[in-house]
Amino acid sequence: MATYDVIIIGAGPGGYVCAIRCAQLGLKTAVVEGRETLGGTCLNVGCIPSKALLHASHQLHEARHNFAAMGLRVAAPKVDWAQMLAYKQEVIDGNTKGIEFLFKKNKIDWIKGWAAIPAAGKVQVGDDIHEAGHIVIATGSEPASLPGVEIDETGVVSSTGALALPKVPKSLVVIGAGVIGLELGSVYKRLGAEVTVIEYLDAVTPGMDAEVQKTLQRMLKKQGLAFVMGAAVQTVAKVKGGHKVTYKLRKNETEASVEAEVVLVATGRKPYLTGLGLDALGIELTKRGQIATDGHYATNIKGIYAIGDAIVGPMLAHKAEDEGLALAEILAGQAGHVNYGVIPGVIYTHPEVASVGATEDALKEAGRAYKVGKFSFMGNARAKAVFAGDGFVKILADTETDRILGAHIIGPGAGELIHEVCVAMEFGAAAEDLARTCHAHPTFSEAVREAALACGDGPIHA
Ligand code: NAI
Repeated sequence: MATYDVIIIGAGPGGYVCAIRCAQLGLKTAVVEGRETLGGTCLNVGCIPSKALLHASHQLHEARHNFAAMGLRVAAPKVDWAQMLAYKQEVIDGNTKGIEFLFKKNKIDWIKGWAAIPAAGKVQVGDDIHEAGHIVIATGSEPASLPGVEIDETGVVSSTGALALPKVPKSLVVIGAGVIGLELGSVYKRLGAEVTVIEYLDAVTPGMDAEVQKTLQRMLKKQGLAFVMGAAVQTVAKVKGGHKVTYKLRKNETEASVEAEVVLVATGRKPYLTGLGLDALGIELTKRGQIATDGHYATNIKGIYAIGDAIVGPMLAHKAEDEGLALAEILAGQAGHVNYGVIPGVIYTHPEVASVGATEDALKEAGRAYKVGKFSFMGNARAKAVFAGDGFVKILADTETDRILGAHIIGPGAGELIHEVCVAMEFGAAAEDLARTCHAHPTFSEAVREAALACGDGPIHA
């Protein structure tokens, strides 16, 4: 069998990016992937297809709610679900084939099948054993269900099933007001389903800035999503025409239930390590079942590394990509590094939510003196012109040094705007550096500058 410098297991954003960089740096590289297509969860059943459905359903919302105000008279738009799914599939295919092309271009071998690691330096796929100096585990994650709730991907679905329902359900219960629950909940609400979100905590999107959490929940309620907060889901039972979800309210332990045609379980994900043979190898795991690695992504077994959702840290495609890049550089003898303080998080609801760095709660807990520069999109001309004045940019900066510590945005294009702050933070910028940078008018980006101005002598348009 062929011998490689590096064999990467898993062709998701962590694995395929790592492979491309390894190849670019002169390492003979192969990737083992058992799916029919490359790209992992993100491209096949995650980030990319969900963005297609979010885009399509947002267009429907615009047509229904804002076209008339702009003087656009069209017949009432209808949903052709089969065509919407076909469009989604086309988007997936374009992206997964793109990765295949990049593999060929970079002379990366795709070993088709599911891998096991019988020993350090060896990867088994079917009956074949391949040898490699370095093995990288980039196997990603899978949905984590709840005890007593069985996901069948038809009536009780994970995000995977929710992206391919045979029809738009009349009603949907979403368990978990995290990123997946709110993104897909919004999609089906816009497409006409009655959506109820049941969340264990008292706020949506755990870990986000508290003000952003409140604003997002308010906006989603306005769009028609119903929320049951502080409720622990107990069981999901089949009933005529759908499912009954029983939950217990945490404040008084009372039980209640809600029925829906389809139930989406969006209560988090867990590392996908099935079949790798990690037990027999003696690979150390963390208490939460992630592969334990050192600062250079090395496991406790020499020559075996791990990145992405399979290890500690936020389960985000771009975090995995950055780890893939860094590890490739390390394997090639360079000094790969990821700045974990500057990893943005984006929720692709409408409006989008984006954040980077510390939240106010985290700064308070750390006893750090900080100032807040906040600017509402109501003061941004471009946002008002496109019915997107609701929302704000908040920049947190060190009281003494003015160094930017974090930013939290809810509003138009938040997922793009956040990167201006990421770059600034990567360069150790002060809020004043952003405030003194000329921003084109009229753009949403001006709201970021205004928030930076608000950290100093004050914004102009507020
Ligand atoms: P999550 O961890 O973001 O949210 C899960 C939610 O479920 C939490 O709010 C939790 O309190 C709640 N929950 C847990 N048990 C419950 C129960 N028994 N009853 C009611 N509520 C309960 O997980 P999610 O949304 O499933 O996403 C999984 C991973 O995928 C996350 O790490 C997320 O960051 C990532 N992801 C990121 C996206 C993005 O960056 N735009 C999009 C989709 C997923």
